Amino acid sequence: MEEKEISQAVIGRLPRYFRYLGELKDEGVERISSQELSERMKVTASQIRQDFNNFGGFGQQGYGYNVEYLYNEIGKILGLDRTHNLVIIGAGNLGRALGNYMNFERRGFLFRGIFDCNESLVGQDVRGVKVRHIRELEQFVRENDIEIAVLTIPKESAGKIVDRLVQNGIRAIWNFAHVDLNVPEGVQVENVHLSDSLMKLSYNINRYMKENER
Ligand code: NAI
Repeated sequence: MEEKEISQAVIGRLPRYFRYLGELKDEGVERISSQELSERMKVTASQIRQDFNNFGGFGQQGYGYNVEYLYNEIGKILGLDRTHNLVIIGAGNLGRALGNYMNFERRGFLFRGIFDCNESLVGQDVRGVKVRHIRELEQFVRENDIEIAVLTIPKESAGKIVDRLVQNGIRAIWNFAHVDLNVPEGVQVENVHLSDSLMKLSYNINRYMKENER
């Protein structure tokens, strides 16, 4: 399939399609129309068709889309048809919570290592993976074909660690530290701020309250 430049907005919607299609597949649904998918996902059918047209439309023929085919194709676009080795930097509350979350593995994200500078955490077990000292980072990243680093350390430490990761061939950073990172072209960064989502929720509470006061 020939891929054109796809907007980030479309890319941002693909994981949700993938999740819903996975559920449909698990329910044994074989075909679904854009109308039915639209009702289920609460987005318009035309939005779905437009989004899918970016990828050639996924061959909707007769009655709707083939669920398994669509699921697999979107998975391929998202790079989920292969595995990705990842390490977590920072074995504090957040790092351990992420390490303990099994579901990433189902999507092909393999939790290979977790690092911290605090000696008292070294050797502790996070779902079968021992916490290593941060001084072992470089060698581990190089020797274990690590592609993704999850940053769950304070922002003050993030820059230096990122430089070390980049020098040792890391391809992508899932950044939970509250700081913008400087990385060379070719290294992908995805920033996550849970509080942004909470603020959106707060905005919607306010909006609803204002509308219902009138
Ligand atoms: P925490 O204090 O429990 O854990 C941080 C860990 O990082 C500690 O174990 C510490 O020893 C380690 N660390 C510090 N410098 C290091 C270095 N140079 N190398 C290796 N390890 C190092 O904190 P928590 O709650 O796990 O949060 C971690 C970070 O994530 C904080 O900076 C926090 O602000 C941020 N955070 C971000 C969220 C988001 O939505 N983006 C949500 C929650 C926390």
